[in-house]
Amino acid sequence: AERTPLIAGNWKMNLDHLQAIALVQKLSWSLKDARHDYTDVEVAVFPPFTDLRSVQTLLTADKLPIALGAQDLSPEAAGAFTGDISAAMLAKLEVHYALVGHSERRQGHGESDELIGAKAAAASNAGLVPMICVGETAADLEEHGPAAIPLAQMQAAVSALPEGAEFVIAYEPVWAIGSGQAASAEQAEAVAAALREALRDTVGDERAAATRILYGGSVASQNIAGFMAQPNVDGALVGGASLKSEEFSRIIQFRK
Ligand code: G3H
Repeated sequence: AERTPLIAGNWKMNLDHLQAIALVQKLSWSLKDARHDYTDVEVAVFPPFTDLRSVQTLLTADKLPIALGAQDLSPEAAGAFTGDISAAMLAKLEVHYALVGHSERRQGHGESDELIGAKAAAASNAGLVPMICVGETAADLEEHGPAAIPLAQMQAAVSALPEGAEFVIAYEPVWAIGSGQAASAEQAEAVAAALREALRDTVGDERAAATRILYGGSVASQNIAGFMAQPNVDGALVGGASLKSEEFSRIIQFRK
């Protein structure tokens, strides 16, 4: 199946709106210098909510083919939900993707599979593409092996989506996030293959073959090529390394 690779940068709670603009500007110059062809690798950035408007303005003004993503969203449509941001608000800002189920939200905010499913559905219903994050902790790995927890998390979220909905899966072993200890390319491939196999039953062969499955967890320019060489790994969700324009630019140009 033809799947355009997707390199996504999750900035987490970093960069104010001026720093955000500076980073995107430097990234675009770096990619321009390298004559990067945006048609064969899709690039997306996930700034904090407070940066979305500024980054969107810059991307539009400079006609930069970088997609925007949000790091979270509310499962609710509108109303008395102080502090929350709706899918419709994000869609209006030309946000294309929304992360759901990142381990930092599962752990730090106690988000359940049910809530994550509701967020994925809310994103999808507003025309956003949910990027569903799944992954096992070191303790899960010891107890259940690598694939069981990610599979269960994926099924819970995907089964909440409307039929035919597009989505992206980001497989992020929790022990690999921000640790400098990335999974091996073979480990990532084994789980990605198991996830795709399970998707065949849930959403059918065609959607399973078309769905991008990303790896995340200490991705850097030194290890990206190994991940991208795997048949079932279609891109990366990059944290720390996405905050450095030169490094993120090298990751995007993983073919060079
Ligand atoms: O969403 C991104 C991941 O949590 C990976 O973060 O690249 O800093 O390990 P990291």
